[in-house]
Amino acid sequence: TAGGSADAKRRAGEQAAQEVEDGFVVGLGTGSTTAYAIEAIGDAVADGLEVRGIPTSFQSRQLALEVGIPLTTLDAVETVDLAIDGADLVVDDPGSPAHGTLIKGGGAAHAREKLVDAAADRFVVVADPSKLADRLERSVPLEVLPAAHSVVADRVRDLSGDPSLRAAEHKDGPVVTDNGNLVLDCEFGPIDDPEELASTLSSVPGVVEHGLFVDLADATYVGTEDGLEVRAY
Ligand code: A5P
Repeated sequence: TAGGSADAKRRAGEQAAQEVEDGFVVGLGTGSTTAYAIEAIGDAVADGLEVRGIPTSFQSRQLALEVGIPLTTLDAVETVDLAIDGADLVVDDPGSPAHGTLIKGGGAAHAREKLVDAAADRFVVVADPSKLADRLERSVPLEVLPAAHSVVADRVRDLSGDPSLRAAEHKDGPVVTDNGNLVLDCEFGPIDDPEELASTLSSVPGVVEHGLFVDLADATYVGTEDGLEVRAY
């Protein structure tokens, strides 16, 4: 999603792209920060690096094709060596059990992102400082089957959440994901036990995927105005 400085995002994206080695299969996340990583990987491919990318959205697929990254799919590879992906919120508090927990799905791509990020041997988050937060408090996107949006919304209210169907900006009606589903943005207030909420949400029929990424990230590269900070988990 938009916001944050372009320089900071570029620094994070380009640094993560440095981790890509010859022969790697790389998960290509979605969003404006990862786009810098994808462009940098494209430059390296033009210089002779051999990689295959697994895109997580229509957007990342288009960009990868544009910059010349050969593509593959999860079912055609044995290993995903590295995934690089952005986030909407990163818990940044070494004293908290939620340190490194993410909320994703601002671009409605979190289902395929989680699939690829979770499959990777190493998952690096790229972010600018606007994404860092002391605690987990942000609406959680749920990708839901179209036929399930009202029953899932009821279930979210039972869990003391406040769901709203994400509306499209340049179309009348809802956002439709790359998978043909809808998105419910759910406010839960501060989330004290992300693991519990994650497993509860996963168990609701009709929920394809939620945007809580618990215990998945290995590191976050935070681009700043004049440098880069690394968090390792
Ligand atoms: C896509 O659904 C999101 O999970 C993105 O990865 C997230 O919104 C990050 O995007 P930016 O890098 O543009 O903030």
